[in-house]
Amino acid sequence: MTTRTPQRLLVTGGAGFIGSNFVHQTVDQRPGVAVTVLDALTYAGQRSSLEPVADRIELVEGSITDAGLVERLVADCDTVVHFAAESHNDNSLRDPSVFIQTNLVGTYTLLEAVRRHPDVHFHHVSTDEVYGDLALDDPARFAESTPYNPSSPYSATKAGSDLLVRAWARSFGVAATLSNCSNNYGPYQHVEKFIPRQITNLIDGRRPKLYGAGLNVRDWIHVEDHNAAVWRIIEAGRPGETYLIGADGERNNLDVVRTLLAVFGQDPQAFDQVNDRPGHDRRYAIDSSKLRRELGWRPRLTDFAAGLRSTVEWYRAHEAWWRPVKAAVEAGYAAQGQ
Ligand code: NAD
Ligand code: TYD
Repeated sequence: MTTRTPQRLLVTGGAGFIGSNFVHQTVDQRPGVAVTVLDALTYAGQRSSLEPVADRIELVEGSITDAGLVERLVADCDTVVHFAAESHNDNSLRDPSVFIQTNLVGTYTLLEAVRRHPDVHFHHVSTDEVYGDLALDDPARFAESTPYNPSSPYSATKAGSDLLVRAWARSFGVAATLSNCSNNYGPYQHVEKFIPRQITNLIDGRRPKLYGAGLNVRDWIHVEDHNAAVWRIIEAGRPGETYLIGADGERNNLDVVRTLLAVFGQDPQAFDQVNDRPGHDRRYAIDSSKLRRELGWRPRLTDFAAGLRSTVEWYRAHEAWWRPVKAAVEAGYAAQGQ
């Protein structure tokens, strides 16, 4: 097994949901590792998400599409962990252009810089949505060999970025690993996303909003487990390889909303059905046996109800973090009948 000892990380998108949790985990558990975050601080990235570790990391505000800046930062690290992306399907249906820029051009810009620095390892963080969706009654799950079949502009640009990474690995010898993970939940997730939207609605005395009948299935994983897997891959993953990350957490959206209603002590029927998402993927499900077998990773936070309860507590305790953007997010959804 290859083993690396990353000492100087460049974390793109480190002020976003998963990236900020990764930075917190790294600072807490690996105090000797130097962390530089490159983040454009778009609507999805907040300086305050890194505030608890601000004196122990460097935060560079800038875009992964800025070739000069990217070159300077890549020259100064041994490992790039690439989280930065436009990440929300609903936004990609309203305006795909920034998804092309960040997810495709941004990833290309990083790859070109890494290509000039052969000692730098590149880890690309991606999604299971590149595989499209599965039927609700299909026993199959996604595996590394599943053909790509993305549905939305978001998932299409993530699929394109994955293929760029694979091409740069094969054609130019870039030392790269990839991971495709299922839906994450936990602290610091933007209130536009499903679980934080419903939690903050409930805190505000509003009813949860379910797209359609709520039968679509997502395979939930706690963000801490995802990030532990990313660490395992950057330390021991084989260059050129893809690893699927999932925690066997399949649930339909209705079930998630009912679990949240129970946490808030409310009637299980106290939700609204709103307009469905166009092209809404039915089901995602991950087979992560390669990662478990080859690298020995296991998820730890697999009690979903307990994970939701602690996430609810986090949103209750961090109202100052989400309150400033909540009204505008709801107004945007309301304009779409959602
Ligand atoms: P997020 O939207 O919360 O955060 C994205 C971060 O990237 C933000 O801090 C934003 O400011 C930054 N960013 C955007 N454009 C940038 C640019 N041009 N230059 C530099 N920084 C830029 O996203 P997330 O949910 O934390 O997702 C992180 C990564 O994980 C993404 O690549 C996403 O595709 C992938 N992923 C997410 C999930 C999930 O459930 N959220 C699941 C699997 C994979
Ligand atoms: P989301 O968090 O946007 O993640 P993704 O589209 O990457 O899976 O949505 C998760 C699921 O929840 C998806 O099936 C769409 C659904 N959804 C709702 O039912 N209501 C909502 O308000 C939102 C934002 C999503």
